Amino acid sequence: MSERNLIYIIGFMGSGKSTAGRKLAALMGWPFIDLDRKIEEVAGKTIPRIFSEDGEEYFRKIESEVLRSLDKTGRIIVSTGGGTPCHGDNMDFMLQTGLTVYLKMTPVQLSKRLLDSSVERPLLKNVPDESLPLFIEEKLSYREKWYNKAEIIVDGHSLNIELLGSIINSK
Ligand code: S3P
Repeated sequence: MSERNLIYIIGFMGSGKSTAGRKLAALMGWPFIDLDRKIEEVAGKTIPRIFSEDGEEYFRKIESEVLRSLDKTGRIIVSTGGGTPCHGDNMDFMLQTGLTVYLKMTPVQLSKRLLDSSVERPLLKNVPDESLPLFIEEKLSYREKWYNKAEIIVDGHSLNIELLGSIINSK
């Protein structure tokens, strides 16, 4: 792989970015950082609390700051939040500072995974289950403008980590 130290895993909520990032880190022997957990550490509170007490704008500000504060001198696999690439200049920043991997999934696959998920997600809090597929379809089609800029795009539903590792190594 070229001398880029950071690998950013991007994709919609529920696409398995953290799981894939952790597995990739184990495969490649690199450290792993979950951006959402790092934001919680820096803010000293959970993401649902940041959204409810300080608002989304404040969350986006910390998200951009934490993204930019990551050490670029050592190797890291970073799983980002679903909205990270779509705010500020974050996608351009990630394209310039590392290798970006988009875990692509269809709205139907995402709906099923998000309905089964027990993770509290502020953006989905007020979306009734029956409206979720349409909500995802609309938000995903808006966000794909950024997601599709990723250097590597893989099918998140049938993800093969060894194959992804070799695609990364060939870059
Ligand atoms: C968000 C996704 C979340 C988290 C925050 C906002 C989004 O991360 O960063 O709730 O805008 O899509 P996950 O993609 O890990 O759920």
